Amino acid sequence: MSTHSDTKKITTNTLQRMKENGEKISMITAYDYSFAKIFDAAGIDVILVGDSASNVMAGHETTLPITLDQMIYHASSVIRGIDRCLVIVDMPFGSYQSNSKEALFSAVRIMKETGAHAVKLEGGEEVLESVKRIISAGVPVMGHLGLTPQSIYKFGTYTVRAREEEEAEKLRKDAKLLQEAGCFGIVLEKIPASLAKEVSESLVIPTISIGAGKYCDGQVLVMHDMLGITTEFKPRFLRQYLNLQKIITKAVKQYIGDVKAKDFPNDQEQY
Ligand code: KIV
Repeated sequence: MSTHSDTKKITTNTLQRMKENGEKISMITAYDYSFAKIFDAAGIDVILVGDSASNVMAGHETTLPITLDQMIYHASSVIRGIDRCLVIVDMPFGSYQSNSKEALFSAVRIMKETGAHAVKLEGGEEVLESVKRIISAGVPVMGHLGLTPQSIYKFGTYTVRAREEEEAEKLRKDAKLLQEAGCFGIVLEKIPASLAKEVSESLVIPTISIGAGKYCDGQVLVMHDMLGITTEFKPRFLRQYLNLQKIITKAVKQYIGDVKAKDFPNDQEQY
């Protein structure tokens, strides 16, 4: 069977066609050249250079500290590793919230300095003017609703969002507004599957779930979580495909042992 994963370059139009054809969209985060190269060659549809880099690459507790310059560094490294997948870059906290002019300036820097294909930013009605201004400059925008980690100090907790009707209603409205503004897709994070289903079915553009269930048009996971590099983070929505922490620890211990035992390097491993 031929899937869109076989086609040369994935674009925002490809994602739209995938939704129309009922083909699920696969998305994973990456922050550097080497992993991006592996994921792209494996056939991933979309790489998200997430501001989760703040957590998994820099060791911060939240996504708030990462800067625009740091996101640009990660994104340009990812771009050098890929051939065919779509690369979306998170606009970091503080790079778009003040006004739409600042938002456009930040988006333009990302596009110019990284070679990425699109940006993602968090929020609905509050950021609508910025979304419109970025899109009017020709930059594709992905929205992000539900649990929006840049607002963690407003929420106070990383628990499931929009369980209550008032918040669910705002999310429905925000999703429509983002679609009308021209977003090519929306990430739905940690909301009830029934609400994500309703929103996904009501929109023409694709939705991508992280903890929003199986009815969305695609799924995204943070690479460190799904590969088991970070093992302390185990939310219910996470499927861990590998325990890389265990595998790496075993390999590094073996290497240490070989060095200490004067087994490495041997005669064939030297000049
Ligand atoms: O930063 C990130 O990795 C994200 C995903 C959780 C969607 O925004």
